[in-house]
Amino acid sequence: MTTTLVDESDLVYHEDDPRVVPLLKEVEHSGAAAVTIDSVSKVFTGRHGKVAALDNISLSVTPGEFVCLLGASGCGKSTLLNLITRLDVPTSGTVGTIGRPALMFQESALFPWLTAGQNIGLALKYAGVPKKQSAAEIDGLLDLVRLSGTADRRVHELSGGQRQRVALARALGQNSQVLLMDEPFAALDAITRDVMHDELTRVWKETGNSIIFVTHNVREAVRLGQRVVLLSSRPGRVVGEWKVNIKGPRTIEHPAVGALAAEITLRLREEIASHARS
Ligand SMILES: Nc1ncnc2c1ncn2[C@@H]1O[C@H](COP(=O)(O)OP(=O)(O)OP(=O)(O)O)[C@@H](O)[C@H]1O
Ligand SMILES: [Mg+2]
Repeated sequence: MTTTLVDESDLVYHEDDPRVVPLLKEVEHSGAAAVTIDSVSKVFTGRHGKVAALDNISLSVTPGEFVCLLGASGCGKSTLLNLITRLDVPTSGTVGTIGRPALMFQESALFPWLTAGQNIGLALKYAGVPKKQSAAEIDGLLDLVRLSGTADRRVHELSGGQRQRVALARALGQNSQVLLMDEPFAALDAITRDVMHDELTRVWKETGNSIIFVTHNVREAVRLGQRVVLLSSRPGRVVGEWKVNIKGPRTIEHPAVGALAAEITLRLREEIASHARS
């Protein structure tokens, strides 16, 4: 068997390939940010005393940018998303966003007594969409996540992957320019997750939203993001940042994805080891 090595520069990529993640354009951060986190710290005071969850985090996300946030369990990733959505307030520092962000969780968090369409309709209602436009918008959102014709299905009639698609449609129905995703595909099997990666990349390109995507999975972060931000163990601080400059269609098993994921994993391991020693 002969193997022919292909020079990447000779390949022609189709921009509408769902696996093509555009390279990050250099954008001036000042004044153009979709999300600005400035010197944010968060300390929880509970029954067991004080827990420092985040320590002096600064991060800026530009409009249309896809940022993946990585870090060990308990380092404060969900806390940071809660602060960005204003579900909680920082102990010090400031958070700014363009409009109110939409949040999507690991579990689909759909209301089981409502149909797929009614779940999405609720988001539209709170976004101020007039009732007579609602049905058309629900159909449009279900088309966008490739679930056309399922508006009348109840939650228990949907697979795990379909539920996450409805949850994505519901988040998009909030008409926010910023989408926050907290390990949304963690509970899915590898094949369904792979499909969802393509779907999310496609939806992101179609909507032009800014996305902050939290994950434990380093390869997933490199597969999806234009930029990967690594947080330290608790209290979370930004300890590393990588631009993902991989040309062409990206898959989870792409060699360049594997190579960058290995580099980031090494840094993550160092971080976890140094935390364990301290
Ligand atoms: N309401 C709260 N009261 C007290 N402590 C809290 C509260 N919420 C979170 N914490 C603590 O803050 C730290 C960060 O929690 P957070 O849920 O943000 O971590 P995480 O990075 O999202 O973890 P995981 O990857 O496991 O989801 C943890 O030590 C957690 O116990
Ligand atoms: Mg979390």
